[in-house]
Amino acid sequence: MTRQLITSALPYINGIKHLGNMVGSMLPADVYSRYLRARGHEVLYICATDEHGTPAELAAKEAGLPVAEYCAQQHDVQKAIYEGFELSFDYFGRSSSPQNREITQTIARQLQASGFIEERAIRQVYSVEDARFLPDRYIVGTCPHCGYDKARGDQCENCTRVLDPTDLIDPRSAISGSSELEVRETKHLFLLQSKLADEVEGWVDEHGKDWPVLASSIARKWLTEGLHDRAITRDLEWGVPVPADTWPELAAEGKVFYVWFDAPIEYIGATNEWADAAPDGESRDWRSWWYEADDTVRYTQFMGKDNVPFHSVMFPATQLGTRDAWKKVDFLKPFNWLNYYGGKFSTSQQRGIFTDAALEILPADYWRYFLMANAPESDDTNFTWELFASSVNKDLADTLGNFVNRVLSFSRKRFGDEVPAGRAAGEAEQKLGTEIAELLAEYEGQLEALQFRKAAQALRALWSAGNSYLETKAPWLEAKTDLDGAALTLRTAMNLIHLYAVVSAPFIPASSAAMRSAFALAGDTRGWVEPEQASSLDLVPAGTPFTVPPVLFAKITEDDLEAYRTRFGGAEADPS
Ligand code: 2FM
Ligand code: ZN
Repeated sequence: MTRQLITSALPYINGIKHLGNMVGSMLPADVYSRYLRARGHEVLYICATDEHGTPAELAAKEAGLPVAEYCAQQHDVQKAIYEGFELSFDYFGRSSSPQNREITQTIARQLQASGFIEERAIRQVYSVEDARFLPDRYIVGTCPHCGYDKARGDQCENCTRVLDPTDLIDPRSAISGSSELEVRETKHLFLLQSKLADEVEGWVDEHGKDWPVLASSIARKWLTEGLHDRAITRDLEWGVPVPADTWPELAAEGKVFYVWFDAPIEYIGATNEWADAAPDGESRDWRSWWYEADDTVRYTQFMGKDNVPFHSVMFPATQLGTRDAWKKVDFLKPFNWLNYYGGKFSTSQQRGIFTDAALEILPADYWRYFLMANAPESDDTNFTWELFASSVNKDLADTLGNFVNRVLSFSRKRFGDEVPAGRAAGEAEQKLGTEIAELLAEYEGQLEALQFRKAAQALRALWSAGNSYLETKAPWLEAKTDLDGAALTLRTAMNLIHLYAVVSAPFIPASSAAMRSAFALAGDTRGWVEPEQASSLDLVPAGTPFTVPPVLFAKITEDDLEAYRTRFGGAEADPS
């Protein structure tokens, strides 16, 4: 068993995240973490709020709160939502933590000592109307590469290219919209990425070989375009301060590190927070997860495609440049976009479904299953209420929920509150066992390969196999003439329910727990069932007491659909 370090891209602090954010980072990371834990691996799943930068400052201003207070509040709001989604973080930290401040400053000093940081005077865009220097992302304009007219000065959201504000056509302030922009001189720290370019390329060649094409192609595109030196400080009040022991002048001017410098470092910072939060008597060693000297760790990152350049090139460049043995990513799992009726989910335009609202209308498992079964892995995918309802109704309510309820209710009615004995397994059960073992092996293989849509398909096929068996054996008819035969069928079906409970847990943890707790099975702590074991369908023996859980999944009705469409907007096409 390996040690598995898992991180999902850190959600920005400002604003509740939408389902597109959820499916592109935290949710698949959670499914994978749960799967690996179930298989017996030692897993550390780390996430945090990304709290620095201008968006946080501006959002705090809008909320009329000091930025530190705003961030503390919003962190708690997001944390509660993620608990509602049953995300099993080992730690959900904050990039504004003292731990991250310390590690970010340490890494900056290491880069300075190894000659990869330089202080440069630069001319920076100043907005006269806003009376402030504008960070790159607060200058908007038209992307010179794809013509998108809301490109930000740091990156074009449409074509994912990294930009410099001076690249933008018709630049203007994103705060006031003013185009009265001046260029003024100020000093900043630069990370000399150009000096690291060959090394980073070599590293990507070696380590990016097995990444999905979406990730390796974005990394390559960025490297081919040339790795330029990059300013890693900003003139902001809120951020990790430049350490005075190393850069007294800049520290005195109140410069802070750029949010994209300290955000990935927070993966390490939050691990440190996790270690510091150890309960009495437990010792946690964050260094053992983050130093390559201890090469027993496999590190997997999850993120949307816009984040790939930072994780595949810039953060590795930072880590390599320290000349310290920081653990770097082994496997990078990127996601395309989930669209809402063909247009983008948008936080700024409040378009689509936000995670808090999603949980208000339906339990987490409905969303978890649908999102993962339709994860935008090989292409962008589309959310529509119709598709969502059909997936919930067919897969969750009909195929899984109905199976569970029918089997347990009928068995209780005919045979009482214990798993019935009946006769020994026959040909149909052997055939079913073989099919189940094959499907389970397929499911495991897809999860090992982090292919979530295909894994969900295999899971659905496992559920369907149970339905086909039940339809063929028809215990409600068997019971009329062959009670022993009906009992065998029901016992077998109950074993399937238990198997579903165990192996569906990464996708639908709450419903899986409900299925599992239907059986009063002594010592039932197994994390997983191997295909060979699964094929015998006898882990729940005759005589095991059981209860019938409440209906697992309610169907989404036409009336519900109508209400959702009205509340969230739907068919009207993307305005952007
Ligand atoms: O794009 C985003 O949502 C960023 N907050 C992701 C940061 S990931 C990491 F580097 F911190
Ligand atoms: Zn573009």
